[in-house]
Amino acid sequence: MTAQIIPVGVFDLVVFGGTGDLTLRKLLPALYYRDRDEQMPPESRFIAVSRRDMARDAYLETVTKALRDYVPAEDIDADCLRRFLGRLDYVALDAAGGDGWDLLTAKLADGDRVRVFYLATAPDLFGPISRHLAAAGLAGPNSRIVLEKPIGHDLESARAINDAVGAVFAEQQIFRIDHYLGKETVQNLMALRFANSLFEPLWSHAAIDHVQITVAESIGAEGRAAYYDKAGALRDMVQNHILQLLCLVAMEPPTEFDADAVRDEKLKVLRALKPIVADDVAAKTVRGQYRDGAVDGAIAPGYLQEIGAEASDTETFVVLKAEVENWRWAGTPFYLRTGKRLPARKSEIVIQFREIPHSIFPSDTGEIQANSLVVRLQPDEGVKLTLMTKDPGPGGMRLRAGPLNLSFAEAFKVRYPDAYERLLMDVVRGNPTLFMRRDEVEAAWGWVEPILDGWHAKNQEPKPYRAGGWGPTAAIALIERDGRSWHDEVV
Ligand code: BG6
Repeated sequence: MTAQIIPVGVFDLVVFGGTGDLTLRKLLPALYYRDRDEQMPPESRFIAVSRRDMARDAYLETVTKALRDYVPAEDIDADCLRRFLGRLDYVALDAAGGDGWDLLTAKLADGDRVRVFYLATAPDLFGPISRHLAAAGLAGPNSRIVLEKPIGHDLESARAINDAVGAVFAEQQIFRIDHYLGKETVQNLMALRFANSLFEPLWSHAAIDHVQITVAESIGAEGRAAYYDKAGALRDMVQNHILQLLCLVAMEPPTEFDADAVRDEKLKVLRALKPIVADDVAAKTVRGQYRDGAVDGAIAPGYLQEIGAEASDTETFVVLKAEVENWRWAGTPFYLRTGKRLPARKSEIVIQFREIPHSIFPSDTGEIQANSLVVRLQPDEGVKLTLMTKDPGPGGMRLRAGPLNLSFAEAFKVRYPDAYERLLMDVVRGNPTLFMRRDEVEAAWGWVEPILDGWHAKNQEPKPYRAGGWGPTAAIALIERDGRSWHDEVV
């Protein structure tokens, strides 16, 4: 089965931070695939911008190496690669100061095409770059600006960034990326909920006992210690990706699949989240930090050793018990869990239905498990509904749980595009549905900030956990206190 590919209009994509990890690892491979699949018009260009003085040829070499590192060899076609490299250019420019802007402006002289300015830089440059773009006459109606996370480190800094960028660009020109929204399986959550009539009547506290959202990673802080040690898991993963997942699970059906209709509904969920304040942090949150251990059969260093620090109170793991205070979800908690150096890379959403109200079967027929719907976001993308069935064979009625399992890889046999492929093309098309609106980002910070303050006020230091384990034992205790348990504790 091949997907239908609709070409986009002619565009120039200018990436600030053009030699950075995100550009080389994600943006360039994503664009290469879109080019290979004939989605990009011949005249479209990619202009990398960074401070480093570098000739175009040297940049092309860097890109060729990156593509060989991050795109599987069988997907690299010599002709496509040549065509793709032909689109690339490089400009050395001081984003905060003035040097180099004339050159960039001259390269972008054709004002008719869509211009996308992608800021893969530190957020303190978002304001200055926007102002330079305006001064250079590059912020017209055909221009779009893409902001990578983090958008601030708290509500106040997020507002300051939004104000600075908003002084130059209108909201519909600003694309705040949360790459989780571009993942196929995350988009599929909306298909599951709103293209099937089966689930909606059950989708509330009446039938659902609780929801678990887990985004587990086996990697550690990697080479990002400077950023990560200031951020921690709550800012790095919960404020954006996990709250977005929660919104997609909890939101009311939008009236149409339109950017503002969808984002209005997500915003209502964020605003309905019950605040977790200082007095709640002990019962409703757990922070952890990994010590050394073993992941995937290899010895893994502890966090401090990995970042080369003597001490740090940054959390690399967090569990939260979130509650959505509205008619649909009252009494149905959402347990959120994420961490680094966990046993496996595994992201999933578990919808745990309530137990049957009364069993007609004698106790020796086996335990009747409550139904669960598991949406596997990565890896092995798919959906699994667990049902109780009769154990086949003679010997009377015995019950056992059996899965209805839809594995997307087996069912659809297509390559799953990376989130950035979809999102970059959406920016060019001017479709902001899968991007965060200003009020969403600020509402998410508004919920997260009291948790950070609460940890500080109550001296909640991260609890140690072994690399390769499922976090501190307190994470298990938190959910077990409610008479529930984590799904799939052991991978
Ligand atoms: C990023 C975080 O936003 O998402 C990283 O900054 C994290 O710390 C990454 O590793 C996870 O993304 P994915 O797509 O690999 O699940």
